[in-house]
Amino acid sequence: MSSPRTPDVLVIGGGIIGLVTAWRAAQRGLATAVVDPEPGGGAAQVAAGMLAAVTELHYGEQTLLGLNLASARRYPEFAAELTELTGLDVGYRRCGTLAVALDADDRTHLRELHALQRQSGLESEWLSGRECRRLEPMLAPGIRGGLRADGDHQVDPRRLAGALTAACERVGVVFHRTWAERLTVVGDRATGAVLRDGTTAAGQVVLAGGSLSGRLAGVPADVLPAVRPVKGQVLRLAVPARCAPFLNRTVRAVVRGSQVYLVPRENGELVVGATSEELGWDTTVTAGGVYELLRDAHELVPGITELPLTETRAGLRPGSPDNAPLLGPTELPGLLLATGHYRNGVLLTPVTGDAMAQVLATGELPDEARPFTPRRFGAAALLEQPA
Ligand code: GLY
Repeated sequence: MSSPRTPDVLVIGGGIIGLVTAWRAAQRGLATAVVDPEPGGGAAQVAAGMLAAVTELHYGEQTLLGLNLASARRYPEFAAELTELTGLDVGYRRCGTLAVALDADDRTHLRELHALQRQSGLESEWLSGRECRRLEPMLAPGIRGGLRADGDHQVDPRRLAGALTAACERVGVVFHRTWAERLTVVGDRATGAVLRDGTTAAGQVVLAGGSLSGRLAGVPADVLPAVRPVKGQVLRLAVPARCAPFLNRTVRAVVRGSQVYLVPRENGELVVGATSEELGWDTTVTAGGVYELLRDAHELVPGITELPLTETRAGLRPGSPDNAPLLGPTELPGLLLATGHYRNGVLLTPVTGDAMAQVLATGELPDEARPFTPRRFGAAALLEQPA
């Protein structure tokens, strides 16, 4: 079936990035449609929802840090706006984060991270092992120190996805609950998509398919985003009321080179993540993945083994060549990207919605989003780089 009215914007992919783009575009008066067999699904159903601009800082990613911080600052208002519009709570919790060290090597690594945070003007405080345990009494006695980042909060990505779907419905976004099979290109312009059950034309098309974004047929090879799936296995446990509060804030560490984090929700859910595996499209939950997460989490918080394990799940992060998102117009007129958010999709949701709505409405990305243009990977941009 074809859409009764040609939308101004067709968003391919109804994960949280596609939904926020559609919501914000519709708020600007653009007739908007989303194509996805299951809007609100995808990586948000797996992600823990850490808003970790400070504790996930990496060398060489200072430009991304600016975007991460801009988005983190918008979260309180963004969450409140969604709740006001939909009546749905998104689980935004200003809990802070504690990154801890289990041994001398970890401590050296965390000290380096602390120095980088300070150089970058970020707020974090070095704590002794004893001070960490005073904040979080369930931590293992052997903790060697930690970094307290009171600005790294959390949101519940499943609730966020539900609220964004409802917000889209409120502002008149049309949902095509099916797969997009091919981008339609006429002459040198993207003009819509062939869906599994019909076609739809659109003034502009946004490809927001998460890790699947590089697979849409019909997209010219030089425009197809170089996103790849990076598997993350995540566990959910339940903290019985008699054990609450089990943890007061997100606790994380790097154990034997692997990230592990424990994110406590107000409703008693405790999310433990995440593996990072380059295994293509595989989303199998493996005994090894669950074992490693529980082993590492147990080293941080021994009492975790007493909690009921309620869910195991794997999702796919959309990894990009420089770990940063691809936002805005491509070299193919009419086709824009909102993908490649890798480890920061939940954090970057507010700023992505704002940036995409602005570029869809005006043709111009806001300043903060310009470094993330997909054109940075184009042939011309690569030729300009120094050898
Ligand atoms: N940002 C957490 C993760 O991707 O595992």
